[in-house]
Amino acid sequence: MTDSRFNIAVAGATGAVGNQMISCLEERNFPIKSIKFLASSRSVGRKLKYKGRDIAVEELTETSFKGIDIALFSAGGGTSEKFAPFAANDGCVVVDNSSAWRMDPEVPLVVPEVNPHAVAQYRNKGIIANPNCSTIQLVVPLHPLHQKYGIKRIVVSTYQAVSGTGKKAIDELDSQTRAILNFKKHENKVYPHTIAFNCLPHIDVFLENGYTKEEMKMVHETRKIFEDDTIGVTATTVRVPVFFGHSESINIETIKNVSAIEVRALLERTSGVKVVDDPENNRYPLAIDAAGQDLTLVGRIRDDESIENGINMWVVADNIRKGAATNAVQIAEILTKEYLSGE
Ligand code: A2P
Repeated sequence: MTDSRFNIAVAGATGAVGNQMISCLEERNFPIKSIKFLASSRSVGRKLKYKGRDIAVEELTETSFKGIDIALFSAGGGTSEKFAPFAANDGCVVVDNSSAWRMDPEVPLVVPEVNPHAVAQYRNKGIIANPNCSTIQLVVPLHPLHQKYGIKRIVVSTYQAVSGTGKKAIDELDSQTRAILNFKKHENKVYPHTIAFNCLPHIDVFLENGYTKEEMKMVHETRKIFEDDTIGVTATTVRVPVFFGHSESINIETIKNVSAIEVRALLERTSGVKVVDDPENNRYPLAIDAAGQDLTLVGRIRDDESIENGINMWVVADNIRKGAATNAVQIAEILTKEYLSGE
């Protein structure tokens, strides 16, 4: 099956994540027979490149998926909710980057380094969900620790880049920064407050329990991916004026005894992780180093001296790549290699 090729669609191709999905398919030399770019009617007429070829963007409709094997969706939750079932009905497997399907018990939620076996459940609804960007970079380094030492509780605070909100937010940080530095007036359109030179402890909507939806996504998605409802997770998610790369301060409490030295050694052998932990030489994970590559960078690994079995670490990844597009393309690769036979 190694020379099988597939008909692929990218829904939301004109967006920040959709664009990166296209680049990831190119970079990873995905076995493509045909590729289709879908977006809203606003984008019809635009052309996007795939391997040097111009491809016209088509409007996403209920009939877009006839003859398509795999569709990568990143066009917002409402769009996925509406169109993914039409795609699945036409025999296409959807890998969806929105939050629409993540907590559906019949839909697998997959991080290839953690639970690749869950891909098999695509057969239930023809849909596989890509987790939230902040959850992906949390579970990649914590998975081997959970397996070996048993994680009881996770306390995580995030420092999230504006690209996670999409192209409009990238433009807003850019224009606000320029305006403020030039003593000009600026507008807040995407976020409720100015994001330039600021930090907003508010990502997605507030819920009745006082947490934001983003914070509760990290709780529920981590438990689903680890297939462990007993694990305690508490999160504070913060938007910061960074374009690309989410950073996370992570504290874990384990059941078995663990030391920072053991954690560092285990993470050095973990697929998808790069340990960057040499504080004496000012080397630790940085958003500007994480951006543009696919590894999850881990550093500042140290014993939590306030509890018996605790570890602190600082984890950074490219939210558009590993946090979204790369993870989705990796899922599609598992599908092509293990489950689908192309032509
Ligand atoms: P369009 O560019 O035509 O609006 P981002 O998250 O960077 O803002 O990108 C969102 C992506 O989702 C874009 O490709 C956008 O297309 C697409 N999109 C948004 N709403 C719809 C819709 N109703 N139907 C199809 N595509 C949509």
